[in-house]
Amino acid sequence: MAVAGGEHLRVEQDHRGVAVATIDVAGMPVNVITEGLVRELGELVQQWERDAPRAIVFRSGKSSGFLAGADVRQIQRLRTVEEVQAVLRAGQELFQRLERLPCPVIAAIHGPCLGGGLEFALACHYRIARDDPSTRLGLPEVQLGLIPGWGGTQRLPRLVGWKRAVTMILEGASLPARKAWEAGLVDAIAEPAQWEAAVERFVTERLQGVALPRPRKSLTDRLLDGTWAGRWLIFSQARKRLGVRAEHYPALTAALRALEAGLRGRRVDGFAVERQEFARVVFTPAARRLLELFFAREKARKTATWVGSDVPIRTFQKVAVIGGGVMGSGIAQLLAVNGYTVVVKEVQAELAAAAQQRIAELLRTAVAKEVLRPADAQAAMQRLTVTTDWEPLQGADLAVEAVVEKEEVKRTVFQELARHLGPQAILASNTSALSISRLAEAVPEPGRVAGLHFFNPVHKMPLVEVIRTLHTQPETIAALVELVRKLGKVPVVVADSPGFLVNRILFPYLDEAVRLLLEGVPAEAIDRAAVRFGMPMGPLELLDQVGIDIAADVSKTFAALAVEPSPTPQHFAAMVADGALGKKTGRGFYQYEGDKRKGLTSWARPSVGTATTLVEEPSVGDTELSELQQRLIYPMLNEAARCLDSGVVPEAWMVDLAMVLGTGFAPFRGGPLHTADALGIPRLVRELDVLQRRCGPRYTPAPLLRTLAAEERDFYPADDRSAVAMPTPATGSASPHP
Ligand code: NAI
Repeated sequence: MAVAGGEHLRVEQDHRGVAVATIDVAGMPVNVITEGLVRELGELVQQWERDAPRAIVFRSGKSSGFLAGADVRQIQRLRTVEEVQAVLRAGQELFQRLERLPCPVIAAIHGPCLGGGLEFALACHYRIARDDPSTRLGLPEVQLGLIPGWGGTQRLPRLVGWKRAVTMILEGASLPARKAWEAGLVDAIAEPAQWEAAVERFVTERLQGVALPRPRKSLTDRLLDGTWAGRWLIFSQARKRLGVRAEHYPALTAALRALEAGLRGRRVDGFAVERQEFARVVFTPAARRLLELFFAREKARKTATWVGSDVPIRTFQKVAVIGGGVMGSGIAQLLAVNGYTVVVKEVQAELAAAAQQRIAELLRTAVAKEVLRPADAQAAMQRLTVTTDWEPLQGADLAVEAVVEKEEVKRTVFQELARHLGPQAILASNTSALSISRLAEAVPEPGRVAGLHFFNPVHKMPLVEVIRTLHTQPETIAALVELVRKLGKVPVVVADSPGFLVNRILFPYLDEAVRLLLEGVPAEAIDRAAVRFGMPMGPLELLDQVGIDIAADVSKTFAALAVEPSPTPQHFAAMVADGALGKKTGRGFYQYEGDKRKGLTSWARPSVGTATTLVEEPSVGDTELSELQQRLIYPMLNEAARCLDSGVVPEAWMVDLAMVLGTGFAPFRGGPLHTADALGIPRLVRELDVLQRRCGPRYTPAPLLRTLAAEERDFYPADDRSAVAMPTPATGSASPHP
């Protein structure tokens, strides 16, 4: 029987007198905490305070999940500290009233329960979660440069202990259902097939006062969480682990301060400190940049951003993957897990067997990490065939080519594909830097050819570049963008130019790292300078991860375009000849034991150059870069400006998003073009001019930088968070391949 109904919350009373409140936020594909929902929830709580039912169960009316968090748009609209304080206090007080209701309050959670959504669930008395891979519980606020502000920092430690709460909040990591139960975050979990019955039983047992079985904590956890000395250790270690990130991401230390306040005194103090710390970080440049990235990501995932909304979107059923190496296997497993029928083609039986092994291993790891259920992994394996024949590929409506980075080989593969798959199939290449337009010339239907550039490792990296040539049809782009979205990744559509967008901007930085090394700058100093700037790892370590052989191939493409000769391709070639291919062979610039990085190899200690003056990089400030950092980072900023200018993508935010997602470019800086704005474009041009005189013409400022400096403009207009659009639309080739 329905007893109340709002726009976003519906309440029914069942035969036991239990109020079932279904959250179904109007006009949203996922439930988020909007002003409207808070208002309706407030009214309900008030009603229950007067007249409590026997129990209250909160559920979601959406199959997409329980409650994905606060409405980020509303956070972004906040303008003053007073507004922030008011919103936080209202939420905190509402959740406190919910917590104080005299009857059991239960959250029945399926799918994402994140941020403000989890803070809401934490204020309920009990939580039961559906045990399937879509269920995730966590407080990811730090990823947006924020901290939990509705009591999360105060309530989470009570349930999961200090050690885990500190880790969960600082990493913004979410837990799957079973891990959430083991951590004490939820009181029960249930298989999807028994979900309804399990919720029903759970409620009945709470009405009967049946005791709940609790997971046992290890002795170490009990000592750490349960003693003052243990807690002191948790916080001091957490601070130490933050290292340079503490300076880049103010939210991390703010979260620690809020958590610590909860440790110290009466809870009410903790809530006040949480509000204060939230208000302290919400207007920082880091939070602004991270929020913008969040919106950019959303925008990129809309097909209409890239092609007109009138373009029909074709879907795929069967996909051929050519080449089952590192990338082919990764792409095949991603497709199979997402329900596509996949045929992988290799050249020899042993290579086919190796590909099959690799895919099986990826699936095993996903199961071990609980991102995939064993049954789903098995189903994925059944959707997958690995072959050395062309025959089984027939009927595929998409082919993704991931064979060796050699144009002749790829062209032959494209010809074969055109022959075996017929004229309807879309043909995509995963090439890192070869010309898609040239590959398209090999087939009779160039309109159906595009690039589909995944990053390594495929299952982890969120970005996929979709590359269009002058001839690629919009339908082809629309179909690929939609595919990328369905695979859970973020597409960025780019014009066909050498290195496309991400590698083109990244490569000058990698090249400069090798040049610096050859000038005599110690490898550790180079990598440290990049990390202090905010990159996830140094350029030399990154090269080891990518593989020196791959880097050598890519460097050839860029060498042909370079404005001045570089010693880098030769250094790579020598490393390849020596078998120093990076992490995969146990040594590159560094030595590796398994996953662990050890000392340097002789490749990182070339006996040339004496550029010892560039060793120190004292600065880590937002806009103070050391000379070493300038040498490394400015080539990326310069190339990013060139990419925008030549129409590789039409808008600044696309460059920034792609670089953050594709390379981990310092997210708190918002990407290379935001970094250029923050430095000040006139200053960047001046400093590039100095470097140009000192180091060579490769530092010549991009014409667009000079123009913007002369016109006193930025890439992003001040106070307007939408990205600047360049007048030239990105259609077709932005600049010719070599
Ligand atoms: P890989 O060397 O691991 O795999 C290539 C596979 O293709 C090998 O197993 C080989 O046997 C197979 N192959 C070669 N010729 C073939 C043919 N005619 N028919 C069927 N299979 C054939 O190389 P990886 O790293 O997987 O790279 C593949 C492509 O992806 C390259 O174009 C590369 O530039 C690109 N790429 C690589 C990235 C990386 O980080 N490894 C990142 C993004 C793109």
